[in-house]
Amino acid sequence: MCGIVGYIGEQDAYPILIKGLHRLEYRGYDSAGIAVANSGDELKIYKAKGRVDDLEEFCRSKDISGNIGIAHTRWATHGEPSNANAHPHYSESENLALIHNGIIENYAVLKQQLINKGFHFRSNTDTEVLVQLIEYIKDLNKVDLCTAIQLALSEIVGAYAIAVLEKGVTDRIIVARKSSPLVLGIGDNEYFIASDASPIVEYTNKVIYLEDEEIAIVSRNEPPRILTIKNVEKSHEIIELEMNISQLEKGGYPHFMLKEIFEQPQTLRDCMRGRIDISCQHVVLSGIIDHKERFLDARRIIILACGTSWHAGLVGKYLFESFCRIPVEVEYSSEFRYRNPVIYPDDIIIAISQSGETADTLAAVELARKSGAFVYGICNVVGSSIARNTDSGSYTHVGPEIGVASTKAFTAQLVVLSMMALCIAREKKTIPDERIKALLKELNRIPDKIEKILQSNELISDLSKIFTYAHNFIYLGRGFNYPIALEGALKLKEISYIHAEGYPAAEMKHGPIALIDTEMPVVAIATDNGMYEKVISNIQEIKARNGRVIAVVSENDTVVKSIADYVIEIPATEDCFDPLLTTIPLQLLSYHIAVNKRRDVDMPRNLAKSVTVE
Ligand code: M6R
Repeated sequence: MCGIVGYIGEQDAYPILIKGLHRLEYRGYDSAGIAVANSGDELKIYKAKGRVDDLEEFCRSKDISGNIGIAHTRWATHGEPSNANAHPHYSESENLALIHNGIIENYAVLKQQLINKGFHFRSNTDTEVLVQLIEYIKDLNKVDLCTAIQLALSEIVGAYAIAVLEKGVTDRIIVARKSSPLVLGIGDNEYFIASDASPIVEYTNKVIYLEDEEIAIVSRNEPPRILTIKNVEKSHEIIELEMNISQLEKGGYPHFMLKEIFEQPQTLRDCMRGRIDISCQHVVLSGIIDHKERFLDARRIIILACGTSWHAGLVGKYLFESFCRIPVEVEYSSEFRYRNPVIYPDDIIIAISQSGETADTLAAVELARKSGAFVYGICNVVGSSIARNTDSGSYTHVGPEIGVASTKAFTAQLVVLSMMALCIAREKKTIPDERIKALLKELNRIPDKIEKILQSNELISDLSKIFTYAHNFIYLGRGFNYPIALEGALKLKEISYIHAEGYPAAEMKHGPIALIDTEMPVVAIATDNGMYEKVISNIQEIKARNGRVIAVVSENDTVVKSIADYVIEIPATEDCFDPLLTTIPLQLLSYHIAVNKRRDVDMPRNLAKSVTVE
């Protein structure tokens, strides 16, 4: 939901800002802009509708010199994607330029008040209201920019990460955040500002994560000064990043999504490393062991998440209920936070989020913590807001996921949930140690089995050509594979723009079966596990109505092969780990269909990787 980047130092700001925008483009990509202040007392803004490439093209013939600047890549909330609505926004006098990630909820009232005072607006954005308000307060009260920003932000309802430049001031950028992320990079005589660490990592590994309602004065040649909105001085620990540049590049793959699909054997090994011992006797998650009593006494688990992470949560329900005998509810964060939910102090809340910044999940976490429940986070982005706002947790450790469609983060979420369920089951003694050992051994084998499935990439690519022009798809699965049917449908929708629905296979006959005809491809997950015979009956029902079935089956299957139109074989595994394997061919199928349709796989229309607005 918008990426912001800033630079102050001795280098030319423009190339650093543009590169930073490319790194943050996954957060929004409908328009982009840049403001650079130079010693000639100018504060110039350049903006373009479209991608960062379009902005670069627009800037090609311009003089954008200066060693202090801010830049923005937008995901539209208020106002359509256009040059006028792109950030940065000027204040009335054009003395201030501001970029913003978030939403100003009370913008309409403030805008009307400013119009009544004679202000003019050039855009339809909520952001322009903020920069105008800052200027109004600054001039009215004759205060410095930092104080004006503090006063303006006290009047704001909503979420923001902002950076502000002032005309004629070439030694300072002022930034602030609330509910939207902001990282400061500390270099040698230079400072970086960004929505996440990816634009910073090639210049320095030293960062500071700003907290909510903090403001930082980032000045040339001196460490950032951090205050709260209420003007209390703060000190911050400098954190060392572990990210490296190769994780941010495609490494020879045509798309990040394909790279991330193929990384999964390694990312899952990384996720398990140091947590499952060599002999597979134990799984040690310190986030659980350090709070063992809370888990042993848990009355209930509530899993909170959105999108793909919510699908991981559904698999988690099956895992915790069958291994730990703890009742589990899986909630969309966006519904939970507004529902006045019943939360008991002995509930365990598990928040799942790749980005760790999803606004609804963050708000749901805050609500749960206020009710006294213990909150556990499963996040990928280290230092993210959800990771910092939970009582305990486990990182997925898959490195940056850049493709908007989540792949490697999803499978790692499943692995963390599996390890959690086995760790709790061991402490609760709900399953025998021998069985835990067997399951851990099998979990350890999963990366090798995924490697084998990835060898079917060509076959799946060929299969995708048959279905590229289908208008609808249905995905079916049962038991542990029901959430994977939902996830397969979501992957196809978001990157190919084909309508797709996931269903528990047995629910078909309660309505959706009316949709089946020769034009309807049905992807059925029919591995030789718990519900095998039942799924075969469901496939028969589809075939009896002339549906076209693509089945994901276990190696050496003969029965489904004789009924389905096409099959994709995967290695056998335990029922509970099936989702880790069955999801891989569905990721590849979606990817190839989207490529065949010439979709922008890594940056599909209307989407953003990190949904930091509600
Ligand atoms: O960062 P999060 O895991 O909290 O994100 C949740 C969803 O926005 C995300 O999973 C989304 O559904 C993906 N684009 C799916 O591929």
